[in-house]
Amino acid sequence: MAAPDDGWAAAHALLAEAASRRDDPILTPPSRPRVGVDLGTASCVLVVLDDDRPVWVESAGSGALHDGVVVDFARAVATVRSLRSRAEDALGVPLTRAATAYPPCIPVADARACTYVCEAAGFDEVALVDEVSAAQRTLEISDGVVVDVGGGSTGIGVFRGGELVRLDDRPGGGHHLDLVLAGALGITVEEAERTKRERPADALPILVPGLHRIAESVRAMTAGTDDELPLHLAGGALMIPRAGDVLASYLQRTVVTHPHALLVTPVGIARSCPEEGTTQ
Ligand SMILES: Nc1ncnc2c1ncn2[C@@H]1O[C@H](COP(=O)(O)OP(=O)(O)OP(=O)(O)O)[C@@H](O)[C@H]1O
Ligand SMILES: [Mg+2]
Repeated sequence: MAAPDDGWAAAHALLAEAASRRDDPILTPPSRPRVGVDLGTASCVLVVLDDDRPVWVESAGSGALHDGVVVDFARAVATVRSLRSRAEDALGVPLTRAATAYPPCIPVADARACTYVCEAAGFDEVALVDEVSAAQRTLEISDGVVVDVGGGSTGIGVFRGGELVRLDDRPGGGHHLDLVLAGALGITVEEAERTKRERPADALPILVPGLHRIAESVRAMTAGTDDELPLHLAGGALMIPRAGDVLASYLQRTVVTHPHALLVTPVGIARSCPEEGTTQ
């Protein structure tokens, strides 16, 4: 049921390059910097593209968001400010424009808080997009469903002919999988998070009910749309090997997994940033 990776070579090359920039940044000053700030529940990621090429990628745990909502403004600002100044120092250019993203379907005031965080962290101009549309900008899906399963929530966007026709979000993500594993093994949530990453083959059978729960959310959020549209997995929570197969066989739908899924949304946010010298 899981589809082969054909047709995604360009997106996968972009993601692989972004992933390699975490350890191997390009430190020549970018001529056309575009910055993306992903304020996630699990971590905050800052991506700098030069034109469309990833040059700098860094993430930091923030603990300042819950389900995409900024719950500790000062801490979120401090995290973004520090990521921004580290990137500026390393790249040798001021970074004045950025794009940031909000989870689908949160109240407008909560979405604006993401903009205010970036402004308070020193960006003069901040473009705001929803996370699912950002993910689509990386994958460039024409007809399909983007499923972004992060630390706290699962967002979906249904695309037809490249247009977004449905957007939704529900609680449930990697943190909930940690709770399932911790409960089953009698370990702490922190130990569960480590086990999930270090021994995924051992964790997967225990996590199947949690994955089915995520699948049920996806089913509910995509009810009434074409079942034949493939599901494209983004976000970190389904980076467990074979998790995509669990979703595919449970939902009887085609599931496309993408490498470095954790970076799909952050790279797409950076792609949403207007270039210096253009007006928004
Ligand atoms: N290699 C991995 N294997 C399994 N899970 C992983 C892996 N890497 C990251 N995760 C999980 O991915 C989640 C974080 O994903 P992501 O960075 O997409 O979330 P986020 O954007 O911070 O959260 P949200 O979008 O819900 O606000 C965490 O719950 C983490 O446990
Ligand atoms: Mg996210």
